[in-house]
Amino acid sequence: MLWLDIDLARPFLDDPDALQALRPRTDAAHRAVLDKSGAGSAYLGWRDLLLHPNDALLEDIATTAAEIRRDADVFLSLGIGGSYLGAKAVIDALTPYFPAADAPRSGPEVLFAGHHMSGAYLRQLLAYLEGKSVYVNVISKSGTTLETALAFRLVRRWMEEHFTDADRRIIVTTDPSKGALNELRASKGYKKYEIPPDVGGRFSVLTPVGLLPIAVAGIDIRSLFYGARDACVRYANPGDGNPALTYAAMRYLLSRQGYHVEILAAFEPCLSSFGDWWQQLYGESEGKQHEGLYPDSLQYSTDLHSLGQYVQDGRRILLETFLMLDDDGGDLVVPPTDPDLDGLNYLAGQTYSHINRQAYQGTAEAHAEGGVPVMTVWLDRLAPDTLGTAIYFFEHAVAVSGYLLGINPFDQPGVEAYKKNMFRLLGRP
Ligand code: PA5
Repeated sequence: MLWLDIDLARPFLDDPDALQALRPRTDAAHRAVLDKSGAGSAYLGWRDLLLHPNDALLEDIATTAAEIRRDADVFLSLGIGGSYLGAKAVIDALTPYFPAADAPRSGPEVLFAGHHMSGAYLRQLLAYLEGKSVYVNVISKSGTTLETALAFRLVRRWMEEHFTDADRRIIVTTDPSKGALNELRASKGYKKYEIPPDVGGRFSVLTPVGLLPIAVAGIDIRSLFYGARDACVRYANPGDGNPALTYAAMRYLLSRQGYHVEILAAFEPCLSSFGDWWQQLYGESEGKQHEGLYPDSLQYSTDLHSLGQYVQDGRRILLETFLMLDDDGGDLVVPPTDPDLDGLNYLAGQTYSHINRQAYQGTAEAHAEGGVPVMTVWLDRLAPDTLGTAIYFFEHAVAVSGYLLGINPFDQPGVEAYKKNMFRLLGRP
């Protein structure tokens, strides 16, 4: 379950009736998402795949993942941007911080590469893989992304040098027919999963792009997927009770009042990668034609001791959205000591959950008092289904938000600029 609290943001609206006044536009943007009448509507397949679940595909991915979990020490996922951030977000959120001492072998280590140009990283990674049973999943819709393609060239050669059955250990996730990866796959006979052409990278976590690595990590992909599907059905309803529409509308109204930066702050470290996924989803969807809020993801209370000063007292261009867990699993109780040498006996008998909750409450109130509009997205607990709900919530909201801003939320023309220069400097023919 997910709910949105805007009590510490609403008082910042210049016009107390602004949300209601924006309602016809919010509803129109919402309808444009539902009936595919807005800009970029050819890329709304991320809703279709939820509305028409392919259970056979979920089953196939789960079966492949189970085989890999039996046989692999390391599952190496190669991809960048939307081709890895979703999987990493879900895996980091749902994997225990530390394995239980009595836990049985819990499947392969899931590692990521092909998401930057560090030669040192790749060299050390290949050395680390020595002597291990390795499976590789190269994920690229275009098949031409240099970071991923280059890493795959080196990893592929390493796999062929180390395994007689290398071709069986390599899985390709790419466009149904286009791109260099399809040619390579055809000549080598790699297993392949398809990325639907109507789903953009940053919306692809619930396609094989995200689902295979997530399943290999031992996470219930059916529950994740159906959590998102339930949200997709629920948030199709317009009206005041739709938190995705309220979130989109509040962001829009506040951005019009000069709040140009949105912080997503979580009080649980395992949600840090979810913040990275959110950052790409919002930055790449909204940041065009000189529009959009700049998204920044922080982890509290850690970052309160680095960026907290700025949030509290720097330029007043920030709005803040907390991502909170109602049940955070922190039922560790603070013990009393006698004598009370560290002066912490006032906390004795209290749980970490309670202390963390007071840290959130105190921070939210302080930031609002300091001039930062604060919203909170609550999840009742951290589980595959609630994370699926959160994924869909943020996807739907950014689509509506993009239409409110008057931009196409589904393209990313600006990403080409650095590539053009890089390829020129590298002398690409
Ligand atoms: O969201 C996007 O579209 C991008 O972040 C892409 O996922 C990223 O650039 C990788 O592209 P590709 O999957 O074609 O290698």
